[in-house]
This record gives sequence, C-alpha cells and structure tokens, in this order.
Amino acid sequence: MKSASIVCLLLAAFAVSSPSRAQESALAATPPMGWNSWNHFAEKIDDATVRAQADAMVASGMRDAGYVYINIDDTWEGQRDAQGFIHANQKFPDMKALADYVHSKGLKLGIYSSPGPKTCAGYEGSYGHEEQDAQTYAQWGVDYLKYDLCSFNDSAMKQAASPEAAHQLMIGAYQKMHDGLLKTKRPIVFSLCQYGMDSVWRWGASVGGNSWRTTDDINDTYERMETIGFGQAGLSRYAAPGHWNDPDMLEVGNGGMKPDEYRTHMSLWALLAAPLLAGNDLTKMTSETVALLTNREVIAIDQDPLGKQGDRVWAEGAYEIWAKPLTGGAKAVGVFNRQSTWMKPSQVEVDFRMLGFKDAVHVRDVWQGKDLGRISGLYKVTVPTHGVVLLRITP
Ligand code: GLA
Repeated sequence: MKSASIVCLLLAAFAVSSPSRAQESALAATPPMGWNSWNHFAEKIDDATVRAQADAMVASGMRDAGYVYINIDDTWEGQRDAQGFIHANQKFPDMKALADYVHSKGLKLGIYSSPGPKTCAGYEGSYGHEEQDAQTYAQWGVDYLKYDLCSFNDSAMKQAASPEAAHQLMIGAYQKMHDGLLKTKRPIVFSLCQYGMDSVWRWGASVGGNSWRTTDDINDTYERMETIGFGQAGLSRYAAPGHWNDPDMLEVGNGGMKPDEYRTHMSLWALLAAPLLAGNDLTKMTSETVALLTNREVIAIDQDPLGKQGDRVWAEGAYEIWAKPLTGGAKAVGVFNRQSTWMKPSQVEVDFRMLGFKDAVHVRDVWQGKDLGRISGLYKVTVPTHGVVLLRITP
C-alpha cells in the first residue's frame, strides 16, 4: 500500500474515533473530585447515608472547593427482573429519587458494577447485561460508573487459553461497557478498576477509561498509602485531560494517620493529578480534616488545567522530591521525608536549577500559605518524618 493511502486510512480512523474521545476529555478535563462510600462505610451504605453525605459535602464547603461526585460503591445491587433489568436492594428504595436529590444539591451521582457475574462483595454484576445496565444507570440519572473487574478475573479470564487471550477478554469487557455508556448519550465518567493489571495505563484510554486504578486497594495506614503513592513513579506520561491514573481513593479523616501523614497523602495525590475522592464520613469531620480536604492551593495543583501528572525527580535514601508542571511555567514541588517517625525532622536541599529554573524564582509554601520571596539556586527546607513541604514555584 502506498504511504499516502496509509495516511488517508489513519486520518479516516481518527475521524471516526474522535467524537467519543472529545466527549471523554470534556467529561474529565481535570481529575474527578468527589466522595466514595467504600473506604469508610463498605457494605454499611444506604440511601439515608448517601443523602447525608451530599448534605455534608455542601455544608462543609467541599462542594465549593470543587468536589462534585457522590459515589455509591459496592453493595447497592439487588436482583434482576424477568426482563433482566437490575434493581437496587432494599437499602436503596428509589435510585432515581436519590439521583434527583443529589443533583438538587448541585452534585452528581456515581455508581458501581463489575464486568463479571458478581461484584467483589458478591452482589449482582453486569455480565451479559452491559448495555441494559448502562441504560438503567442513565435513566436513574447516574453520572459516574466505577467498573470493578472482580469475578470477571476469576471466571472468564481464568478459563482463557493464554494470558494474551485473558488480556483480550478483559479489554473486550471494558470496551463493551464503554459502548453501552456511549449509547445512552448521557455523559457518564467511566472509572476502570482492575488494580493496575497488564499495565492498564497503556490501554485504559483506548477502552474509554476516564481513569484507571493503578494499584490494589488502599487502607488507612501510612505504610499502605506510602507504598501506593510513592509507587506511582514513572506513570506520569500516561495521564492527560480526559484520562487519569488513579492510585485509589483518599483516607483523609478516617483517623488512621497522623496530620503530617495525611498532608503527605493529599500532597502526593495532588502532585499525581489523581482523582480526589474523599473516603471518610463527611458528616463527622474535624476542622483539621476539612482544612486538609479543602485547601484551595493544594486542590489547584491537582486540578491545574495543563493536566500534567507530576513525577519523582530526585531521591536519596528516604528523601524524595516530586515535581508537577503547572500552567504558565510554574511547578508544584513536594519535598518528602520517609524516615521513621522516631527520628528528628531532616533538612533537604532543593536545587531549583535541577528543577529547570536557571534564574531566581518566586517560592510559596502551600500548606503554610506563605510567600517565601524570590530565591535562586539552592534552598534548604526542614521536613518532618512522614511529612512533606509542598512548594509552588513560579519563574
Ligand atoms: C474492590 C475495589 C474497592 C471496592 C471493593 C468493593 O476491592 O478495589 O475499591 O470497590 O472492591 O467490593
């Protein structure tokens, strides 16, 4: 085939695929922000609790800080009727009314399912009913779907003839639900959850994923959060407006970490341009928790319209520097100290030239909300153990 015809074919293929791409990137132009029921409530989630979380998202100021999605995770699912339509269980008497309530607060509703016959918690999955379920979600007024591999891995994929065949089955399963969502014509964020298998960051966008989990589940300990957060090094090139790496939901406010550790959690997730899905009980927040979740400058780093994920730029033993490019040539820089907590705070030297700034830069300490003035060359910061100094650097 002549090279000109190959170019034409490529252009034609692009023209065919571009409308849905455009819809996707308009959908999650910046990383999705909201709340999800799983980390705090797990199976103890019901209609009244979801309404209370929506109320609290507004009353706490989280909505005004940018949080939008109220996401119901696993255990809402009931039985299918004779026509195969899924119904919620007795904990959710009227999903449409719940969506209307959430929308009336200026928020959006998210839901959860699996491509397998069962969800991770053993409830009804979407296997064989993908298009029908997408239609049901759209009718209810759902705006976000977390699609969790679960039993699809144990059933269909385990029976595949080869790892490559299993991989193709998984891709097909995600593509099928994406097609179903597109058919509804309702903008529904498509959140892939398969724990980072088969380097999902390389193909998640091709099956319509607006985000994809890069890891197995988080929990409310510094050790787990640290393993996941710092383990994201190298993935920045795969994130862009419309599709994001997802290192799992936030644990801020659940009580298992110290303030410095939660600051590390928030700072790292913002530098990673990660979805910010609070996973705590929004009706019972201390003022410290609200301050951590709603810090406008931290959120602005996560939500920067350039849509570039940050990455590790330097590491020496337990000290690490991560940087995220921001609009206008600015950079967010996180200086982390991963030393054990019995040690003293450490001094870490930040080299602005190594970060790409030849001349003096304007430096702001984000968590302290303090301008540090113009600085050139090397700058020493004192970082507490398990903590962070988060800087915004402007040329
Ligand atoms: C998996 C997911 C979690 C949560 C549970 C629900 O473990 O990774 O985030 O959705 O399933 O059963």
